[in-house]
Amino acid sequence: MKNIVVLVSGGGTNLQALIDAEKNGIIKSGKITAVVSSNPNAYALERAEKNNIATAVIRRKDYEDFKSYDLALTDLLKSLNADLVVLAGFMTILGHEVISAFENKMINIHPALIPSFCGEGFYGLRVHEAALEKGVKLSGATTHFVTEECDAGPIIMQRAVEVKNDDTPETLQRRIMENVEWKILPLSVELFCSGKIRVKDNKTIISD
Ligand code: GRF
Repeated sequence: MKNIVVLVSGGGTNLQALIDAEKNGIIKSGKITAVVSSNPNAYALERAEKNNIATAVIRRKDYEDFKSYDLALTDLLKSLNADLVVLAGFMTILGHEVISAFENKMINIHPALIPSFCGEGFYGLRVHEAALEKGVKLSGATTHFVTEECDAGPIIMQRAVEVKNDDTPETLQRRIMENVEWKILPLSVELFCSGKIRVKDNKTIISD
């Protein structure tokens, strides 16, 4: 069993999808043992508490500089014995220390088909606004390992949805969450926990 630690900042619908997937056996090779939030008021923390999952809060502004924050987050994740760290809507930038400590052991979900609409500045509704501005006919979400270059790590899973003529950033966001994010994040976590993901040359090789 792998220890899964989930990093959150907001509503936590992706965290909920992970909790549900553990309950219904989609995630069977790992267990969510802690939820860490950058925001003490995140609803995601309530979701964790309701499911008897340990919680912690770590705020960038409580540290003098970025380096000490980066070290503190690394120490916290190590003290929680994290085998896998999942970024499920975590809104604080990660530093070299934590990223290197969890190389190929940290999964992020991005609400677009990488390499489209990703990288610095592409978060939240901005991603879907950009997709609609471009007029793409498909969008979706991507799970990937975290590297120091934003949204550029090895891709684990992607799925697409159709973009409709009357979509707003909000309707597109919702369709992508419901049809893609809440499905591929738990599946990617199980692939990792069951040892089915290998990384070679910045690409993943998934065995079945
Ligand atoms: C999701 O759209 C995810 O792709 C992005 O942040 C959002 C988090 O939503 N990284 P939630 O907190 O899981 O509801």
